[in-house]
Amino acid sequence: MEQYESVLKRLERTAKEYTNIAPENGQFLSILICSIHAQNVLEVGTSNGYSAIYLAAALKETGGKLITLEFDPMRAAEAEAHLQEVGLDNIVDVRIGNAIDEIPKCEATFDLVFLDGEKSEYRRYLELAFPNIRTGGLIVADDTVTMRDEMPDYIEFVFNTPQLHSVDIPLDDGIILSYKTGM
Ligand SMILES: C[S@@+](CC[C@H](N)C(=O)[O-])C[C@H]1O[C@@H](n2cnc3c(N)ncnc32)[C@H](O)[C@@H]1O
Repeated sequence: MEQYESVLKRLERTAKEYTNIAPENGQFLSILICSIHAQNVLEVGTSNGYSAIYLAAALKETGGKLITLEFDPMRAAEAEAHLQEVGLDNIVDVRIGNAIDEIPKCEATFDLVFLDGEKSEYRRYLELAFPNIRTGGLIVADDTVTMRDEMPDYIEFVFNTPQLHSVDIPLDDGIILSYKTGM
């Protein structure tokens, strides 16, 4: 991550405004991607591309690709500029549009899906992406401690669907990590 450090540090100064993940959550995602040697990753909620830098840097190691979805064109443009600045733009496809419309258009089979869009829509995102997540694939949802009240249907789904093994991880604003089984 050293070559991306200065841009990440600069973006951390505006992390509240852009509601970026914490650095440790970026590290966590990076470790997951490298551990499962992910080839295809989907992110819902790009913002200015802070988390996408972590995801793409890990995917550079594995030879994989990232699709990231953002409905605010200004933020998507900022993300593209930041990814270009760190030389990771060739790994990332920033798609501008509502994730509800964009997820069904994704043809890749995902090894990992990172949910960081509108909290009340997490369940919808996951249900739409579900057929395209491989057996053994991972789903990471952010803000699951601090904004848990806004995602009761997601909590119900990930802890009660037989095909998912899920665990709460109290890292920064909270993460739920789910594993898709072959059942
Ligand atoms: C918490 S921020 C994402 C932060 C980013 N993952 C990071 O850590 O750098 C959420 C972003 O999701 C976008 N968003 C929310 N609902 C969306 C939807 N339905 N489709 C696409 N983008 C959405 C918002 O515009 C916002 O930029």
